[in-house]
Amino acid sequence: MAEILVLYYSRHGALGEMARLIARGIEEVEGMQARLRTVPEVSTVCEATADSIPDEGSPYVELEDLKECAGLALGSPTHFGNMAAPLKYFIDNTSPLWLSGSLIGKPAAVFTSTSSLHGGQESTLLSMMLPLLHHGMLITGIPYSETDLLHTSGGGTPYGASHHAGADNSLPLSEVEHRLCIALGRRLASTARALGRASHG
Ligand SMILES: Cc1cc2nc3c(=O)[nH]c(=O)nc-3n(C[C@H](O)[C@H](O)[C@H](O)COP(=O)(O)O)c2cc1C
Repeated sequence: MAEILVLYYSRHGALGEMARLIARGIEEVEGMQARLRTVPEVSTVCEATADSIPDEGSPYVELEDLKECAGLALGSPTHFGNMAAPLKYFIDNTSPLWLSGSLIGKPAAVFTSTSSLHGGQESTLLSMMLPLLHHGMLITGIPYSETDLLHTSGGGTPYGASHHAGADNSLPLSEVEHRLCIALGRRLASTARALGRASHG
């Protein structure tokens, strides 16, 4: 079984739900499994440390997870049009993998959620791609053959999966957002599988 790392940060739960749907899409592909991981909060007090295992939910990610997995789905809520600091903090500590070129050629995908419809989904998704491109990863978006993209009035973009959560985070994932998360996971896993086959001849 090859694994895809689904790495996300979530404060109110939307990204956690999207991560589980992306994992479902990944596991629809034969021979592929999802590994769900999250990141701890960052603190303005640099000395403060979190327990190494969270009280609930996905375990915290380690560099080894990125190294061992055949691909990456990276998810963050939009914070001021960009990815959230806890995820960025983790990515800023991936220099050893950049130096060893461990992620070169692995496929990656991104996903996000916003409280307002035009609050920065695309800018967040695009900015999340930048460090992944520096790592040499191959970005897989969502093609318009997923016709939900043509009709969505909420989340769902060709840059990655997204969700419009509403001002008080009360909107559930729409059917379209739900389907596009699964489609993204499936596409990422199929790409990793095809690349794995190619590299093994
Ligand atoms: C510090 C901060 C900044 C935010 N900035 C934006 C923003 O720029 N645009 C937006 O629409 N929502 C913004 N939000 C709302 C979150 O993106 C939104 O609630 C998201 O769905 C939360 O995902 P979660 O449930 O996984 O935590 C912000 C929230 C916080 C805490």
